[in-house]
Order: sequence, then C-alpha cells, then structure tokens
Amino acid sequence: MSLERTLILVKPDGVQRRLIGRIVSRIEDKGLSIIGMKMLQVTPELSKKHYAEHVTKGFYKDLEAFITSGPVVAMVVEGPEAITVMRTLMGKTNSRESAPGTIRGDLGASRQMNLIHGSDGPEAAAREIATYFAASEIVAAPNALAAHLWATDEE
Ligand code: RTP
Ligand code: MG
Repeated sequence: MSLERTLILVKPDGVQRRLIGRIVSRIEDKGLSIIGMKMLQVTPELSKKHYAEHVTKGFYKDLEAFITSGPVVAMVVEGPEAITVMRTLMGKTNSRESAPGTIRGDLGASRQMNLIHGSDGPEAAAREIATYFAASEIVAAPNALAAHLWATDEE
C-alpha cells in the first residue's frame, strides 16, 4: 500500500449548494489529510488543461460551461491509496447511479453536476496537482493520527 496524493475539486454546484463543509467533512472523516486547499475560478483555459482528455468529446462544451460557472474549492488530499479511496468515496460519475453512502450518491442526482472531481490515476493526479497548486502551496505535515488509522504495513 502506498501513500498517494490526489487532486480534489468541490465543483461549482457543490459550492453554490453550500456543501463545501459537508464534502470536506467526508474526506476528513475517512482519515485522509488535506495538505493544500484554495478557492478559485476555473477559466476556459484551465478547464481545457484539466479536462484535456475530454476536449474533443461532444459533452465538453457543456462541461466547460459548468466547471467555469462559479468558484471551485481545490484540494490536495493525501493518504494510503488516496486516489482509489477518494474515487470510491465519490461514487460513480452519474450521481443517479452512485451508491448511497458515497458523496455523489448521497448529495446529488445529476451526471454533469456531480459535486466533486477526483484524479483517476497516479499520472492524472501528478499532472492535476501541478496544474492547480504551486509546490509552495502544499503544506505537508505528519499525520499524528496515523497509528490509530492504519497498521504500519498499510502506510
Ligand atoms: P471528474 O473527472 O470530474 O472527477 O469525473 P469522472 O472522472 O467521474 O468523469 P469523467 O468521465 O472524467 O467526466 C468528467 C466530467 O464531465 C461530465 N460528464 N458529462 N454528458 C456526459 O456524457 C458527461 N460525461 C461526463 C461530468 O461532470 C464528469 O464528472
Ligand atoms: Mg475524470
């Protein structure tokens, strides 16, 4: 098991619906560490960089309009297998199909307005973290609770 970092966004729908705190709580409740955090407005240029894999797809125009429609909260989240753990916690892309208990399954009912973004693999995580955060904006600190959250062979 490896310590990973992943890029998380509370998307504009989550900010507008006043769900920032509840989404952050779900991440903290899981024992993961937030080591970078800021609010920002995604520009069309940033959207094209972030969603490069989707730019040629039919839904991209609507996706860009959505992700640039208001502020987002960007986070760097760290923990054992944090990329997979966060994707599981988020639930399936289409919130109507996301399992109850997941962030999308509990709080949303849309495919596009699905509240949260999480990197889908190690390469995407590294690229996306560098896209949203300067190294100086990431404040890593030892997790003082680690001994109570994971066995040593899990870290
Ligand atoms: P994300 O990248 O935002 O974490 O979401 P994801 O991996 O679960 O889904 P992905 O396939 O990467 O799609 C990116 C975002 O585009 C919107 N979407 N619209 N109209 C459509 O068919 C469609 N498919 C995806 C969603 O907002 C999705 O989160
Ligand atoms: Mg994705």
